Order: sequence, then structure tokens, then C-alpha cells
Amino acid sequence: MKKLKINGNKKLIGEVRISGSKNAALPIIAAALLTPDDVILHNVPDLSDVRTMLKLLEGMGVKVVKDGATICINASQITNTKAPYELVKTMRASILTLCPLVARFGHAEVSLPGGCAIGARPVDQHIKGLQQFGASVTVEKGYVNANAIKLFGTTISTDMITVTGTENLMMAATLADGITVINNAAREPEIEDLAKFLKSLGADIQGEGTSSIRIKGVKALHGTEYTVQPDRIEAGTFLVSGVLTQGNVTIRKCNPNHLKSVLEKLSEAGAQLKIGDDWINISIQNRPTPVSISTAPYPDFPTDMQAQFMILNCISDGTSYITENIFENRFMHIPELRRLGANIQIENNTAIITGVPQLIGAPVMSTDLRASAALVLGGLAAEGETIIDRIYHLDRGYENIEIKLRSLGADVLRI
Ligand code: EPZ
Repeated sequence: MKKLKINGNKKLIGEVRISGSKNAALPIIAAALLTPDDVILHNVPDLSDVRTMLKLLEGMGVKVVKDGATICINASQITNTKAPYELVKTMRASILTLCPLVARFGHAEVSLPGGCAIGARPVDQHIKGLQQFGASVTVEKGYVNANAIKLFGTTISTDMITVTGTENLMMAATLADGITVINNAAREPEIEDLAKFLKSLGADIQGEGTSSIRIKGVKALHGTEYTVQPDRIEAGTFLVSGVLTQGNVTIRKCNPNHLKSVLEKLSEAGAQLKIGDDWINISIQNRPTPVSISTAPYPDFPTDMQAQFMILNCISDGTSYITENIFENRFMHIPELRRLGANIQIENNTAIITGVPQLIGAPVMSTDLRASAALVLGGLAAEGETIIDRIYHLDRGYENIEIKLRSLGADVLRI
């Protein structure tokens, strides 16, 4: 089992290039199933989740050619429409193949993702929405079986705001007969990136980025060449690393417009920010001020940055409160942060953090993707050596993280 060894308490100084967004690339790769033509994607991050999604499509007969961050996908010859449990259990976003398969081929057999560390993660909204398009959907032996001669445009309002739920339903609507309106739609930047990609295939979409998306179905979709947007969560994670170590970090090839709520909180913590079109420089002169956070759907504070701000608060000069409203079990990093000397109490879905002047390195264990990012940040701030175990969680969402951190002066090794 690979580990990361960090020798902490060093200022991070320098600049890093932000990779393409995992959470934009995954739905866009699944959407390539909607056309028989070549789809060429640029700025695709080299992550285990992306490799899993490509493997899933290849298992269906899709042709995939990878050249660094450029990937060419051709789904003209499909041999089957099955997403098997062996792959789906490792990457729950596999559910994003459900609607493209039904929309283009009339059937799909997609394994239920099963739970994950941060929560039950049900897909009832995906199933309910697909049924509203006229598909017959059953769940048997852990698989979602969906069939439809044709999908019919409809008006859907999801019971809660769901990012991949909105994405799945958008993809179904692009080839449905008639008009679809998705209300209570997610507004994340990844939704807008998927919509822009689908429109480059010839889809007729309006309202993406608002809570009501209108899609007029078309007969068929053609190929495209498209560049995936930068990863706002990787960007936010590196910004926190600059503040946590009281260094001076510049992130390049990012989109500052996707980070408004995160930048607000970083300023509140006392960071100095210089912001360009596709770059951000961050520094701080002294110990961060504690910032309280309540996670919510975009454009409010993202749940995927909750763990990273928790570790920042652990070394701030006061008490702060972090409330997690999206997932029911996204505090798995807390017992591990306590091993580094953090002082955190939990009351229901709120963590009460009392900042300490210095964390001390220790062996810790990753439990999920963003928790492992918080442990890396903790190790960078802590005095002495931190060994992080089970870093396969980290590799799901951060491309070459130790190489990027070393370029900022961190003493980090993959062992
Ligand atoms: C996406 O997950 C992201 N993943 C997550 O990022 C992110 O944390 C999450 O959105 C929230 O922003 C990808 O985009 C691949 P949801 P998703 O459906 O779509 C409940 C990361 O770290 N719900 O918006 O699975 C659900 O349980 C990952 O990169 C239902 O009850 O999240 C949750 O409480 C982690 N039924 C809430 O809605 C459903 O059918 C929001 O979940 C769907 C969701």
C-alpha cells in the first residue's frame, strides 16, 4: 500500500499549474456515448477515477486513445451497455453512463454504486428522473436495468439539488423527443462545462448555471473537440496550502470565477490575494483567523473544500464552526486530524475547532478523497514527520500531487 511521507513546517513558495477538473471530465467522458462520431478532449486530468471511467467505456466496446491530457473517444461500435459492479464499486460516478446509454441505445444495465465513506450516496433521483422520460427502470440484484424505445421530453424537479443527478438528466434530455425542463437543477461550474460540451455536440440547451435548465431534444449528436475546465477544488486545495504554511503560492490555469465563496473565506482568514484572469497569488503575514463555514450547493461554500478548511482552522488563533449539510458522514478526517494534535469536537453535523499553535507529525490514514487532502495539508503544517496511508484515495482526485508540492518546496515523498 503506497504512502506519502511528509516532513512538515516548511513555507510553500512558488507556483503550480492546476489540472483539468475531475468532476467536469467524468460526466463529459460519459456524454461521449451520445454520439457515434469522434470526441477529442483536452486538459483531461490523469486520475484513477478518469482511468476507471475510460475502462468502463472500453468494456462497452468504445474506442479510447489517450495521449497525455488529450483523449480521443469513439462510441460508434458498442458491443454492450453494461457497467459492471467490479468497476462501478470503485468509482460511483459510473452512474453517469446510465442516461447516455438509454438515450442513444434504448437500454442500460448499470451496477448500483453502493455506499462510500462519506455517505449512502443513493441514486434514486437519477432513476426517478429517467422514469419520467418514459423509460422502464427496475433495480434487481444490485443493477439498475433501464429500457426505452424512445425518451420523451418532460418537466422534472429533483427532490434535492444533485450534481450528477442533474448531469444524468441533462444527457437523457439531449436526445429525447420534445422539450425538457429540469427544475431545482444544480448550478455547479461542472454543470455548465457539461452543457457547453453537449452544445458543441449539437445539443439545444439553455439556462445551465441557473436552477432551471431547458433542453430541446435533437435527432442525433455529432462529434467535437473540447477542452475541460480547470479543477476548482484542486485550485482551492493549493490555495489553502499557501495559507497553512504561511508561504506564497501562485496557482496558474485556474478559473477564479469558480472560487468566489472559497476566496471570500480565505480573505476572511486573513490571506492576501492577487487575482488575474487565470491565476491567483495567495500569501499571509501571520497565523490565520478562524473562519466558520456551512457547506451548501454552488454558488455557496463547496462541501469538497470542507476538510481543507477544517485543517486550516486547526492552526488558526481561535474557535470556529464547520457545518456539513450535504453528506451525512463527511467528518471521517476528524479522528485522523486529532492524531496530529488538532482540537475538534463534533456536535451532530457541526465540528467545533479550537485552533492550536502547532500540529505535530504522526502516522495517519486516508478515509476518502478530500479527507486525504486535509491530511496532506496537515502534514505540511505539522512539525516533524507525517506518514499518510491508503493514498489511493488521494490519487482519485489529485494529479501528481507530491510532484506539484515538491515544486513549492515541500519535503514530500511517495514511499
Ligand atoms: C458530486 O457528487 C461530486 N462528484 C462530489 O464530489 C460532490 O461532493 C457532490 O457532487 C456535491 O457537490 C462528482 O461530480 C463526480 P449529489 P454527487 O448528488 O453528484 C443526495 C469529490 O470529492 N442524493 O450532488 O454524487 C446525496 O446523498 C466528490 O470530488 C440523493 O439522496 O452528489 C447527497 O446527500 C465527492 N439521491 C446530496 O443529495 C440522489 O439520487 C447531494 O449529492 C442523488 C443525491
